[in-house]
Amino acid sequence: MKICCIGAGYVGGPTMAMIAHKCEDHTVTVVDINEARIDAWNSVELPVYEPGLDEIVQANRGKNLFFSTDVDSAIREADMIFMSVNTPTKTYGVGAGRAADLRYIEKCARKIAEVCEGDKIVVEKSTLPVRTAESIKRILESNAEGRKFQILSNPEFLAEGTAIQDLQNPDRVLIGGDQTPEGKAAIQILVDVYAAWVPEERILTTNLWSSELSKLTANAFLAQRISSINAISALCEATEANVDEVAHAIGTDSRIGPKFLKSSVGFGGSCFQKDILNLVYLCEHFGLPDVAAYWNSVIEMNDYQKHRFARKVVSTLFNTVSDKKIAVLGFAFKKDTNDTRESAAIYICKDLLEEQANLSIYDPKVPEAQMLRDLELGEKDDSITVCGDAYEATKDAHAVLVLTEWDEFKELDYKKIYDAMHLPAFLFDGRNVLDLEALREIGFEASGIGKG
Ligand code: NAD
Ligand code: UDX
Repeated sequence: MKICCIGAGYVGGPTMAMIAHKCEDHTVTVVDINEARIDAWNSVELPVYEPGLDEIVQANRGKNLFFSTDVDSAIREADMIFMSVNTPTKTYGVGAGRAADLRYIEKCARKIAEVCEGDKIVVEKSTLPVRTAESIKRILESNAEGRKFQILSNPEFLAEGTAIQDLQNPDRVLIGGDQTPEGKAAIQILVDVYAAWVPEERILTTNLWSSELSKLTANAFLAQRISSINAISALCEATEANVDEVAHAIGTDSRIGPKFLKSSVGFGGSCFQKDILNLVYLCEHFGLPDVAAYWNSVIEMNDYQKHRFARKVVSTLFNTVSDKKIAVLGFAFKKDTNDTRESAAIYICKDLLEEQANLSIYDPKVPEAQMLRDLELGEKDDSITVCGDAYEATKDAHAVLVLTEWDEFKELDYKKIYDAMHLPAFLFDGRNVLDLEALREIGFEASGIGKG
């Protein structure tokens, strides 16, 4: 089978690399209108950093895995077309700030209708509002001219930083489609692709709408757990309880479970906020304002947590950070990724810049240009310095902030860092990854999240 994927991003690239890797009989072509991104996929420096991704791409690229800007040819030749384009929050018009911007998806559908010659299976890989398949179907069918289209929903559950692991060994693969004989046949074709490496009992099939809605629901539930534990972290700080101990105590209840209970500076990433906003918008659209308000509170709590952290830094540093050097360790939204989309670090840095702090930032994978874009600063802005390592960033600093849980931050020589800092030397562990007692023995005024 020939497979085409429109969109060579964080999802399209790794997902298609895994399909090509596991299904040597299929030819997979990933296309994108962004030429620089395609060039990078064809180079030694891939545009996405994910542990294990380089090896898989290198093993298959040029054999049964191709990256190209020739969108039309790839669509025309394919039997199955994945749509893995971005679906950001709309920034204009009706639903601005909440609804999903579906213009890229609609462009894909129109492009497929325009260029393809035979029957096609079109797969929604992007995260979409429930009932989007209906619009895609209408666009394709009104331009069908005898061609037949089957639309499937196959949302992606990979998390960044562990994408290859998640793709290799998914908890489940979800495939939704029409419950007609033709729809079921299309579902089976996609089931067979995944069955090359995923046990069949982990491949779930549903109707289209359940599949579309399950993706938004999964992200809302995951984010809700983080907001819940972060809400408790504020109470811990007021009462001398320890949020890690509380999380462990509740997580051992098998009905609650231990995962996704790590208190932090707030969740980031390209998905949680956008998908919950989308869910909130959908609930309002369907006349369910109470349901919308319930899910919106997950975002409100996350905003509270980010600002609360920045406020705590300022108040601890004697209510002023003006002209003080604050070292920021970690800028990515989580470890093992170069992605900064919606990273809590952006919001915290902006709050501190507003207070006229001088920031020296180090992240092992995020380039300086990306940080400047995220902080909306020009190249020559002297309020931030981007450093090549943690020791340079923390030298002469008044405070150290750990904002991403990179493993290397646990291995640093904190005595060396302390000796090069202004006293009192403050350290704020926004990820609860450091040994605060050991830091205090060195002399740091160290605090974590949710530790009274
Ligand atoms: P991304 O921005 O990294 O990549 C999307 C790519 O699509 C871009 O390179 C863009 O140039 C390309 N594109 C847009 N319109 C196009 C068109 N008309 N023709 C060809 N290419 C086009 O986005 P992503 O992070 O890969 O996310 C893609 C989708 O997957 C989103 O709906 C997202 O919600 C969902 N998702 C993302 C993750 C994640 O961890 N990033 C996980 C699960 C699901
Ligand atoms: C998420 C979903 O996990 C994934 O299934 C979906 O496909 C895409 O969205 P991702 O955003 O890549 O994946 O990473 P995830 O591991 O979910 O982390 C999201 C954010 O929550 C990060 O900022 C992370 O640091 C934070 N987080 C996660 C916590 O603060 N505490 C936790 O316990 C878990």
